[in-house]
Amino acid sequence: MAKAEVRSVTQLDVEPGELPKTMTAWVIREERQGEPIDAFQIEEIEVPEPGPFEVIVRVMAAGVNFNNVWAARGVPVSVFRYHPQEDHHIGGSDGSGVVWKTGPGVTMWQPGDEVVIHCNQASYEDYETHGLDPLAGSSQKIWGYETSWGSFAQFTKVQAQQLLPKPKNLSWEEAASYGLTYFTAYRMLIDRCKIQAGHKVLIWGAAGGLGVFATQLCRLAGADACGVVSSDEKGALVTQLGGKGYINRNEFEGMMRKGGESPDEEKARFKEMRRFGGAVREILGDDPDIVFEHVGQATFPTSVFVVKRFGKVVICGATSGYNLDFDVRYLWMRQKQIIGSHFANAYQANEANKLMADGKIRPVLWRVMPFEGVAEAHQLMRENKHHGKIAILVGAEGEGLGKTEEGPGAIRAEVGS
Ligand SMILES: NC(=O)c1ccc[n+]([C@@H]2O[C@H](COP(=O)([O-])OP(=O)(O)OC[C@H]3O[C@@H](n4cnc5c(N)ncnc54)[C@H](OP(=O)(O)O)[C@@H]3O)[C@@H](O)[C@H]2O)c1
Repeated sequence: MAKAEVRSVTQLDVEPGELPKTMTAWVIREERQGEPIDAFQIEEIEVPEPGPFEVIVRVMAAGVNFNNVWAARGVPVSVFRYHPQEDHHIGGSDGSGVVWKTGPGVTMWQPGDEVVIHCNQASYEDYETHGLDPLAGSSQKIWGYETSWGSFAQFTKVQAQQLLPKPKNLSWEEAASYGLTYFTAYRMLIDRCKIQAGHKVLIWGAAGGLGVFATQLCRLAGADACGVVSSDEKGALVTQLGGKGYINRNEFEGMMRKGGESPDEEKARFKEMRRFGGAVREILGDDPDIVFEHVGQATFPTSVFVVKRFGKVVICGATSGYNLDFDVRYLWMRQKQIIGSHFANAYQANEANKLMADGKIRPVLWRVMPFEGVAEAHQLMRENKHHGKIAILVGAEGEGLGKTEEGPGAIRAEVGS
């Protein structure tokens, strides 16, 4: 493997349509999985050719997500299990850029087109792709996590169906920052929960990557959102995004499920869950119709307990642990539903992207970092020191470039920066 220094990743000596032999990329290798700050290293890697229905995109900016914190650490599974054909993992499941070379069969996109990339991949040959949902097929993978050739490199390899028009009102880094979490939140609320005006929604981690979009989608749909956060600074961001109110979870430490509690500790936890339910009702005026879950073990019993009779707990992740337990009597007696959700299909991603182009939903950027910052950005995320999203400049020479139309742009999450 060729270890490389960061050379100027903004400079290229090829025109659209031609590929250089090698590129600079942040790479995770199986033997160095561990803390993100050490697991990610810069290497010089060959540039792949596009296969049928594939496109090589020059990355202008990339977005940072929690999935490559998991990839760096090699937990709960090593990503090399997902793509044994490559011994490198180039992560990065969000990006904006320029179409550079198209493979056979691609007709919708030409070299020079400016795009945002959504991260769902599925085989064209899966039956589910054509009649059910590409996320239902056995070939489904998240690009830049379950595949290599993600966006933390000068070039990335994607399926043509992953490309969306870049909103003209956003800069490269703004356009790279939202896809994975925003499109996931869109499917969870709009498709899986059929959110309606007047619904009341409880959102865990409302100032995090998913939460900032869930909060904005509630506002746009006419639903009331109560965000849960771990500081008043984050709470202020939730209110700015249109949340009706927020709860600081540090005031309810005792409600978090740790596992292995004694009967007395269980009883005390239940008492705290009831107190938390009261605080939610105080903000929303009623129990929530929908609970937006991704924290998992620590919060799931509370989610099932506080959601309204016949309400929905929708879950897409498990940051605090994936073995969940809860008192099932509250589920069946009150006829609640638990709904699993995973990313979004191309149609949903495109519909959600139009709301960005219209300025109705806005990216929430906490930091923009240079290409050198990829490992540090993931370490900040691992330590929960971030607010909203982090974007990385790759081909873009500075912030604010790539915007060709007026528009409100990103909300800057100043808190904690
Ligand atoms: N399946 C999918 O398609 C999909 C898509 C996106 C994300 N995910 C998963 O969803 C999870 C969240 O992603 P994200 O991008 O929103 O991450 P994020 O930016 O880190 O935000 C998550 C928020 O959850 C809160 N949180 C973390 N640990 C917690 C705990 N023990 N108890 C209560 N709250 C806690 C934190 O907010 P406070 O500290 O302010 O409470 C944090 O800001 C990750 O596990 C990710 O892998 C899955």
